[in-house]
Amino acid sequence: MENRYAIILAAGKGSRMKSSLYKVLHHVAGKPMVEHVIEQVEAVNVDEIVTIVGFGAEMVKNHLGERSKYALQTEQLGTGHAVLATADLLKDKKGTTLVICGDTPLLTSKTLKELVKHHEETKAKATILSAVARDASGYGRIIRNEANLVEKIVEQKDASESELLINEFNTGTYCFDNEFLFEALTQVGNNNAQGEYYLPDVISILKNKGEVVTAFVMDSEDESMGVNDRVALAKASQLMTERINKEHMKNGVTFIDPANTYIESDVVIGSDTIIEPGVYLRGKTVIGSKCHIGAHSNIFNSKIGDNVVIHSSTIEESIINNGADIGPYAHLRPNAEIGEGAHIGNFVEIKKATIGNNTKVGHLTYVGDATLGEDINVGCGTVFVNYDGKNKFHTTIGDHSFIGSGTNLVAPLTIGRNAATAAGSTITEDVPDGDLGIARGRQSNLEGYAKKMPYNE
Ligand code: UD1
Ligand code: CA
Repeated sequence: MENRYAIILAAGKGSRMKSSLYKVLHHVAGKPMVEHVIEQVEAVNVDEIVTIVGFGAEMVKNHLGERSKYALQTEQLGTGHAVLATADLLKDKKGTTLVICGDTPLLTSKTLKELVKHHEETKAKATILSAVARDASGYGRIIRNEANLVEKIVEQKDASESELLINEFNTGTYCFDNEFLFEALTQVGNNNAQGEYYLPDVISILKNKGEVVTAFVMDSEDESMGVNDRVALAKASQLMTERINKEHMKNGVTFIDPANTYIESDVVIGSDTIIEPGVYLRGKTVIGSKCHIGAHSNIFNSKIGDNVVIHSSTIEESIINNGADIGPYAHLRPNAEIGEGAHIGNFVEIKKATIGNNTKVGHLTYVGDATLGEDINVGCGTVFVNYDGKNKFHTTIGDHSFIGSGTNLVAPLTIGRNAATAAGSTITEDVPDGDLGIARGRQSNLEGYAKKMPYNE
C-alpha cells in the first residue's frame, strides 16, 4: 500500500464546448481526454482512483469501466463541491491524494510523479502543480507573498487588474494531505464571481491555518493545457500529435510531413518504415519494419507485417503479412487476412476473407466470406457473390487456381486446386481440382449486322 489516492474531476458540463457530448469524452488524438488522464494517473501507482461524474455521465462510467471508482456530483456547483462528492469513499484515508482535471489530456505521468515526490518531500499539506505562460488568461493565477510563498489562487473572473498580469497559473492538478483536504473543503464557500465552490480555495484556507502549501512549477506550458473549448481541443490534438510523432521519429520511423500525419497513442511502428502525408493510424494498429504507408491511408486496429507497401487505402481490423502490397484505393474491411507477398490492387474490396501467400487480386474485385489458397490469380472484375439478401455464404479456392476476369462466384462454392474459371462465367457449381469451369452463353456473330445498328440509321 502506497497510501496514495487519485481523484479525477469529470462532472463539469463543459458548456464552453457547445456540445451534446460530455466534455471529457471529446477526443484528443483519437482518444477521449479522460482516457489520456486516467492512463497517466494509473502509471503513478495509486491505491485507488475515484472519478467524479455528473448527472447523465453513464457514458464516462461505461468508458472507464472498472479502472476507477465513481462518485456522483448531481449538481455542478464547482470543483470544490465536486471533490466533496468523494468524501464517502476517501474522507477517512490517511495519505496523499492527487487531484487532476479530466480536461488536461497532455499531462504526463512523469510530471505527476515529480509532483507527488515534491509534495511528500516538502511535507506540505497542499502542493499545486503550476506552470508559467506568456499569457495565462482563462486560468486561475498563483498569488505569492513577498517571501515568494504561495498565498492563494485567484480565478480569472475574480482577479484584479494586477493579478491578471501574473503569468504563473494553476494547472488544476494538486496533491493534498487527504485528511486536511476534506477538512478544508467543508469551509469552502461560494462567494465569488461564479457563485461556485472552488477547489483552489482550499489553498488559502490551509495557508491561513498556518499549514505548508507550495507550488511545484512544471517546465512545459504545453503539457499543462486545459481544454475548455474547441479551439483548445484542436490545439491539444496538435500538441499530442507532435509528441507522438516525435517519439516514432526517435525510434527510427520516417515521416514526410509529421504535421499532417495522425497517429493515435497506442499505435506501434517498426523502424525504417516511411509514412507519407495524410495518413491516419488508429486504435491498436501495429506496423512492422521497412513498410511504406502511402498518402491518405487510413488504418484502424490492424496488424501489418514487415516490408508491406500500402498505397492510399483503407484498412480496418485486418492482418497483412510480410511483403504484401495493397492499393491504391483498396478497402480491407474487418477480418481480412492477406498472405505473405500477396498483391491486392486498385479498387478491390475484401471482407472476412483469407488470401493465401503470393495470391494476386489485382483489380476491381469484391472478395467477401472466402478462403483463398496460395498463388492464385483472381482476374479483374471478379465478384464473390456471398449474399442472398438474408444469409452470407462461403467460397473456398484451392492453391494455384486461376479465376478468369469477370467471374461471378455464387457461394456456397468450392473451386479446387489448379482449377480455373473461364472469363465472364457465373459459377454456381463446385469446380474440381484441375478442371476449368465455364458457364456462359455461346457467341454467335450476325454477319454485316453492325451497320444496321440504330446509330448508323
Ligand atoms: C479550473 C481551476 C483553475 C485552473 C484551471 C486549469 C477551479 C475553480 N478553477 O478552472 O484555477 O487554472 O482549472 O485548467 O477549479 N468539474 C466538476 N464539477 C464541477 C465543476 C467542474 O467535476 O462542478 C470538473 C470539470 O469536468 C473539469 C474540471 O472540473 O474536468 C475543471 O473544471 P472547469 O470548469 O474546466 O474549470 P476551469 O474554469 O478550467
Ligand atoms: Ca478547464
